[in-house]
Amino acid sequence: MCKLTSRVLNLLISTCFIIIISCKSSTTKNEIPRECISINDNWKFMKYASLEDADDLFYDVRPEVVNANDAKEADTPATEAEKLEASKKALKPYILPAANPFIKDTINHHVRPEGHPGSDFPFVQATFDDSSWENVNLPHDWAIKGPFQEGSNAEVGGGMGRLPSNGIAWYRRKIDVTEADKNKSIYLDIDGAMSYAIVWLNGQLVGGWPYGYNSFRLDLTPYLNFSGENQIAIRLDNPNHSARWYPGGGIYRNVWLTKTNKVHVSHWGTTVTTSNVSKESANIHFDVTVKNNSDSDADIETITEIYTCNNDDIGANVATIEKTTTKISAGNSETIKGSVTVENPQLWGPPPTQTPNLYKAITSILREGVLIDEYETTFGIKNIKLDPNQGILVNGELIKIQGVNEHHDLGAMGAAFNVRAAERKLEILKEMGVNAIRMAHNPPAPELLELTDKMGFLVIDEVFDSWERKKTPHDFHLIFPDWHEADTRAMVRRDKNHPSIIIWSYGNEVGEQYTDEEGAAIGKRLSDIVKEEDSTRPTTSAMNWAKSDMPFSNAMDVISFNYQGEGIRQDPIFDNVTDRIKTKPQYEPYHKKFPNKVILSSETASAASSRGVYLFPVSDLMSSPIRDGMGGDSKIKQVSAYELYAVDFGSSADKVFASLDKHPYSAGEFVWTGFDYLGEPTPYYDARSSYNGIIDLAGFPKDRFYLYQSRWRPDLPMVHILPHWNWPERMDKITPVHVFTSGDEVELFLNGKSLGKKKKGDYEYRLRWDDVTYQPGELKAVAYKNGKVWAEKTVKTTEEASKLMVKADRTTIDADGKDLSFITIEVKDKNGLIVPTANNLLEFEIEGPGEIIATDNGDASDLTAFVSKKRHAFNGLALVIVRSKKGEMGTIKVTAKSNGLETGIVEIKAFTP
Ligand code: GAL
Repeated sequence: MCKLTSRVLNLLISTCFIIIISCKSSTTKNEIPRECISINDNWKFMKYASLEDADDLFYDVRPEVVNANDAKEADTPATEAEKLEASKKALKPYILPAANPFIKDTINHHVRPEGHPGSDFPFVQATFDDSSWENVNLPHDWAIKGPFQEGSNAEVGGGMGRLPSNGIAWYRRKIDVTEADKNKSIYLDIDGAMSYAIVWLNGQLVGGWPYGYNSFRLDLTPYLNFSGENQIAIRLDNPNHSARWYPGGGIYRNVWLTKTNKVHVSHWGTTVTTSNVSKESANIHFDVTVKNNSDSDADIETITEIYTCNNDDIGANVATIEKTTTKISAGNSETIKGSVTVENPQLWGPPPTQTPNLYKAITSILREGVLIDEYETTFGIKNIKLDPNQGILVNGELIKIQGVNEHHDLGAMGAAFNVRAAERKLEILKEMGVNAIRMAHNPPAPELLELTDKMGFLVIDEVFDSWERKKTPHDFHLIFPDWHEADTRAMVRRDKNHPSIIIWSYGNEVGEQYTDEEGAAIGKRLSDIVKEEDSTRPTTSAMNWAKSDMPFSNAMDVISFNYQGEGIRQDPIFDNVTDRIKTKPQYEPYHKKFPNKVILSSETASAASSRGVYLFPVSDLMSSPIRDGMGGDSKIKQVSAYELYAVDFGSSADKVFASLDKHPYSAGEFVWTGFDYLGEPTPYYDARSSYNGIIDLAGFPKDRFYLYQSRWRPDLPMVHILPHWNWPERMDKITPVHVFTSGDEVELFLNGKSLGKKKKGDYEYRLRWDDVTYQPGELKAVAYKNGKVWAEKTVKTTEEASKLMVKADRTTIDADGKDLSFITIEVKDKNGLIVPTANNLLEFEIEGPGEIIATDNGDASDLTAFVSKKRHAFNGLALVIVRSKKGEMGTIKVTAKSNGLETGIVEIKAFTP
């Protein structure tokens, strides 16, 4: 949020008109135009032990789960939904009206039945004694503390991360309103609740929102008690078998109480678009929708001022949209349109070649000269051109997509959103050279988009993983018929002003790819809905079964391939596999069929590996599927980090690079995935988290990180060697050495003796010495670029583990109860080298004003609860996440101990700036 101080000063200096307003407003009742109050703190929480214990205030009936096995490949086709009898007792008819503002045709608006179901249920009443319930602060993920559920009969399987995200729970809190709020509109704004939220206020049912990934607003005004207590009660009901990954559970994003005057800018009520963008000037078009909730007509004046806004500080006022006067009749809304030209705009664009400059529009609504609302809109000015023969041009510069897919979880912190944890992820990705993120497969926390705006990532914002057809028994298909329009519009309406978003995706690998015209019609409808909300950005829907002549591809503006560029299951090993997707590389047929559409790869690779695990023999292919003895070991549940192995429908990074380079018109790729994520642990469903990340769940880079970096940051001198060189059991055995570099040539030395110089050939992205005979000592790689030394790296055989080294990513954090320090523990030998095979049991202690909220090590098979203060290192590393305590300043001391090893300590300062 930008600070308003300089702006107020500006206003006072620039217009006497505003001075009058300020004077007037200080003497009127409506002196506070809009309040956005965080109500994250002090909730009471209770989760039923089992579904049998729960109340029956449910949204709707769900089908029985017949086959609970979730260990199936991601490209298993979706199937038809089951027909269900609607239950009379279901609360759905009371919830559906929340969708009305997002349903275009008023004929389809829902009418709420009479009454307040649940009003006699104790939990919704102010008098209910909830003192025995747990105290929680939001954002809250009820499942992340575990325990992990083990074994093949676990209730929640590997697919959803083996954590107890399923179940029914209640949140309760009192909210403050006063007599002074009586003439206001008061809203509850929930940025994300997983899932099927139903809200009561003072015993009366207000409404709800089933889809856990969208933000939603409920109008509390009719149910408020302005002269006494107000009790909110929220029921969530998060089904098992609802996702192919870990969804988390609970109110896992921010919650706000928004107080406005009766006449105010409506929810997500501003739209900024730009045209004729150049370095010299840009036209800004600004629509603001104002709602009149009062019972008399309102004559209002609207004025919008535009400021530069970088590093969260409001700068110069660069333009003002002319004041307009509008009459809004009682109970209605009006959209006021304005335009203005900004001279010499500071354009928004992705680093390193461009800068993500931001602007802030401040809209003031005045009634009889009194400021009655003030609304801020952050935006950027940029020019995007889609060139089917090159890709995406941002402000005239071709930017090849160097992207990754990310799920919403924050590793050991689960789904509960935290700005610093998300920022750290983006920082690590940026270090690798990432310039784009695909939000797989749902709208993210709004603050994540604020970060991508500020840091300059290009974003695909995506709404669904399933439509009418189902991937899992309780996924979105159950509510698609009732909610697809509202959820699609809600995503676009909330996110449309973020400059980082370049494409809207209305689906991922949906079952409707297979249903010809019928499926294509649903896709077209969703694409049209998106365009009605935002006609300026292209739409897409990711295909993993793409045929250039299928009607499904027609509606989308941008063709998005999942794994189709490289082809799927084309190797001989799949010759007898008939029932799974097998696709030849699709770039060419699509480029021919759709010469006017940009093609990008929305998912590539799905390569898998475990950080620091190297298994032998090593495939001599460029890309190989995973089997026991072929990159995989199902006993230890690890995949080799030679980075040659991928899921059956995927490809190694190298194979993807070759395919992209052979099809230079491709806009680029989004790798599946940047970070490992909770759930979907293909190929070992006994584990807790995925193997697909380039970076492990704890945030430690796998070897692949350097392969991508070598391609995505060609100007960064770097060379990386794998594997480690601690192989006492491989004395005199063939132990291949692979090297990644941003140079073009490498000479490798073992114990000072050259093993030869190798140069990258066409479509080669690594240099391989596949016949090295292991001898302990030192491997050294000297990389060259254009004949000159470019970078050097050595890897040495270490001594035994002897000490712990503890390092914090930040040694000063804000004492706001949210800020984090990510602490890495390295197991080192006496010479200070990390012991790459060390798996010592570590124990952590903390003193001072901070708490250890989670620990991890990046081992997908480690089922130690994330809250545990004891954890094994995994291949030399472990992570401790420390959070400050609100308002408590001082020194936080974190100690890591392990039997026989020297203790490691780090100190962090918590302070309030
Ligand atoms: C894709 C799918 C992703 C993920 C990935 C795993 O087919 O779109 O959500 O499941 O496979 O390899």
